[in-house]
Amino acid sequence: MATIIDGKSAAADVVSKVKAAAEELTLASGLIPGIAVVIVGNDAASQVYVASKGRKARECGFSSTEHALAAETSERDLLILIGKLNADPDIHGILVQLPLPAHIDPGKIIQAIAPEKDVDGFHFTNVGKLGTGELDTAFVPCTPAGSMLLIEYVLGRDLSGLNAVVVGRSNIVGKPMANLLLNANATVTVAHSRTNDLPDICRRADILIAAVGRPEMIRRDWIKPGAVVIDVGINRIGEAASGKSKLVGDVAFAEAVENARAITPVPGGVGPMTIALLMANTLVSACRSAN
Ligand code: GUN
Repeated sequence: MATIIDGKSAAADVVSKVKAAAEELTLASGLIPGIAVVIVGNDAASQVYVASKGRKARECGFSSTEHALAAETSERDLLILIGKLNADPDIHGILVQLPLPAHIDPGKIIQAIAPEKDVDGFHFTNVGKLGTGELDTAFVPCTPAGSMLLIEYVLGRDLSGLNAVVVGRSNIVGKPMANLLLNANATVTVAHSRTNDLPDICRRADILIAAVGRPEMIRRDWIKPGAVVIDVGINRIGEAASGKSKLVGDVAFAEAVENARAITPVPGGVGPMTIALLMANTLVSACRSAN
């Protein structure tokens, strides 16, 4: 049976370190890390995520401002807000919650955020720095960064000789995850919906990252005995209205737990780490601005 990786406790560890460092920064320089979270429209899941980001920021001793904009907000008005946040010296991190309404081009919005405040790590400058291994000055996207920390808990920092398979090629998770694993010396395969023989490819993984958004797609016999499995999926199944819905990952947990060496649960695995790493990125941004 696999060890179940406790993302909640790992995240609490990160948050307590961030909180202590923020206190120190504020004492030494009077500077309070500030994050602005922008949400456009009424997506229920996004509202939950944004509220928990604000709560966690306050728990860390940050100032957190939330900008909840109507669904019909124009792209131009959103760009004006971002311009103001870019120029505001009290704001060190800017996060625009995705997805945005269809009439707004997410690429245009992300590229308008000052790279030094892009705590999501989505701006070309940060994507490029991650791609070239300049991690000292990059912001790394929070979900892959948090996933790497969980892998590190089990396997250490150096993944030399290990095969990692990332299932999913999104800009938010799959691609940055692949780059982080490469930087840690893993041999990386990125698989996706057009990949042939996906189960076979997954079976070669010493480290398997599931980031496809398909409930319980990855089954028992896709997992190499002894693999470390990181499940990034958060899928709601069942009828929310009947109160019978539940969250599941991209991995069939009850099956995988019998084959893997270690596995993250859903919920309570990668999810809490994403928010913790957002706090860490915001703290780093505030520290950089103080120097
Ligand atoms: N929507 C889903 N994940 C994320 C994330 O990491 N950052 C932002 N801004 N939006 C998201």
